[in-house]
Amino acid sequence: MEDKLTEDFSMEDILDYISKNGVQRNIKPAYKTENFALYNDDSLEVMSRFPDNYIDMIFADPPYMLSNDGFTCQNGRMVSVNKGRWDKSNGFQNDIEFHETWIKECRRILKPEGTIWISGTYHSIYQCGFLLQKLNFHLLNDISWFKPNASPNLSCRFFTASHETVLWARKDKKAKHYFDYEAMKNGRFPEDNIKKQDLQMRSVWSIPTPPPSEKLFGKHPTQKPLALLKRIVKASTKPGDIIFDPFNGGGTTGIASTIIGNRKYIGCDLNREYIDLTIKRYEDFIKKPNLFYETK
Ligand SMILES: C[S@@+](CC[C@H](N)C(=O)[O-])C[C@H]1O[C@@H](n2cnc3c(N)ncnc32)[C@H](O)[C@@H]1O
Repeated sequence: MEDKLTEDFSMEDILDYISKNGVQRNIKPAYKTENFALYNDDSLEVMSRFPDNYIDMIFADPPYMLSNDGFTCQNGRMVSVNKGRWDKSNGFQNDIEFHETWIKECRRILKPEGTIWISGTYHSIYQCGFLLQKLNFHLLNDISWFKPNASPNLSCRFFTASHETVLWARKDKKAKHYFDYEAMKNGRFPEDNIKKQDLQMRSVWSIPTPPPSEKLFGKHPTQKPLALLKRIVKASTKPGDIIFDPFNGGGTTGIASTIIGNRKYIGCDLNREYIDLTIKRYEDFIKKPNLFYETK
């Protein structure tokens, strides 16, 4: 780590550091502002340039490895479950190696008191949970994100999948992580018909899938709702924190961080289309922050 990269670094300092910290290839963000940067690159490559113990919070929504040519039902229509090439399984062993590589790198770049969230369905979440334990993270919660409007099951041969699991873990067992207990207990969560006003927030969150207002600029096939990411950012980061998402997708983590405010965000995605979608969403929010988004 260069001497000049101190606690008072600016976004510019870290982006500069990342671009120079590689002998093979210069990496430049595809987009950057004072508090928001996007890399159109492999997150492993980008993370390898980060200094150790640098990031306050990571939200990772890795490929689900569920694009297996099956079908699901959407708005009454039968559609393929395939999300894209990035979501194809390469077999159990290769998938687990992939998850282990990126989770290990996340561990290196997180501050000791930093936390990581990993979301997924049963296709990938047990592998990720096992690896968090193997790599000595300290599990804090496994949140069940219940989707009250999940698509019906077409085969009628098993239960309708209507939740995802979001694991929350701290890097260091002994460090003190940040948790905004008050905001979670007393905040307003109008979308959630399980959360009772002024009572502790529990580990089952009822949040509908993203509404059309979050898909104005196109949609990502596994886009998360802003209500989910706003809750995560608010619960686990404080003003000034730096948040990293290695699988940016449509940029929900970055938009939620910007809505909450006073956070720095860095996201990576291999796919240029998703980077462009994120830029559109971000610039729209910056232009009219109060029109479409509830910021509280
Ligand atoms: C499950 S999606 C994330 C969706 C995102 N949370 C959202 O709300 O829009 C995973 C994303 O990871 C990207 N991806 C897959 N492998 C990657 C890699 N090695 N480096 C960077 N991005 C990757 C895919 O292009 C995809 O957009």
